[in-house]
Amino acid sequence: MDKKSCLVIMSDIHSNIVALNRALEYLKVQGMENPRKMVCLGDVIGYGPKPKECVDIARTFGVCLSGNHESYLQGDFDKRRVNPKALEVIEYTKKVLGEDDLNWLTGLPPNQTITIPKTGNTIAFTHYAPGVSDGYVESKDDTLTAFGGISENVSVTFTGHTHKPAMAAVDAKGHPHYYTADDLKKYFGWDKPILLEPDQRYIVNVGSIGQPRDGDERLSLVMYDMAEHSIRWFRTDYNIEKTVEQMEEAKLPESLRERLLQGL
Ligand SMILES: [Fe+2]
Repeated sequence: MDKKSCLVIMSDIHSNIVALNRALEYLKVQGMENPRKMVCLGDVIGYGPKPKECVDIARTFGVCLSGNHESYLQGDFDKRRVNPKALEVIEYTKKVLGEDDLNWLTGLPPNQTITIPKTGNTIAFTHYAPGVSDGYVESKDDTLTAFGGISENVSVTFTGHTHKPAMAAVDAKGHPHYYTADDLKKYFGWDKPILLEPDQRYIVNVGSIGQPRDGDERLSLVMYDMAEHSIRWFRTDYNIEKTVEQMEEAKLPESLRERLLQGL
């Protein structure tokens, strides 16, 4: 992978500044610290203790989308379907953020598509997987449904929302393939480039920076080499205890702290 042709795609930061800073520290070592080449697929805020610090950084990114937690800020949700603890943190977030940051968050777009001039590949960014209820693609069946909601010219759709790294693909014969986080680890390994096939279409779930839920509490992000058409997941530890401490100081619900420690 060539750092000059790489985009860094992350999602679900969830006000976890310790995890976000750890990710940026790693990217700096890799020579990939240019924020204009960074993408956040939504849920910058929610669950975590440091919304302001995370928003300040996300505002410098080349692309930042809206997730469900950004819609909660506007009251745009069905109360029966949202975890009350999440809404408790939304109230905290509203108190901590100023009007300018709140306006920025509520004005974010839900998706974005770009075509890479040199290769002609079109890639899409979105918080939720398209076409499936609640935006979760977690099986081969979901894979076909999701591709039904994606325009044929899009070769890779990057998503977040589930907080679990995963990859879905449909091959040239229209057959679906689905890789869970465990499959990705087993077949490809973290931190190794995966060359994408030119005749296949993909949905790549980048995982979560601030609240991973695949049973591995380490943060997750993806690099996409636009020239090579390859992806690479990166996962690393960060100081979770520090984030838990900050959550305690902010008096955020205890169950959310437990969840973070367990990676669930
Ligand atoms: Fe999220």
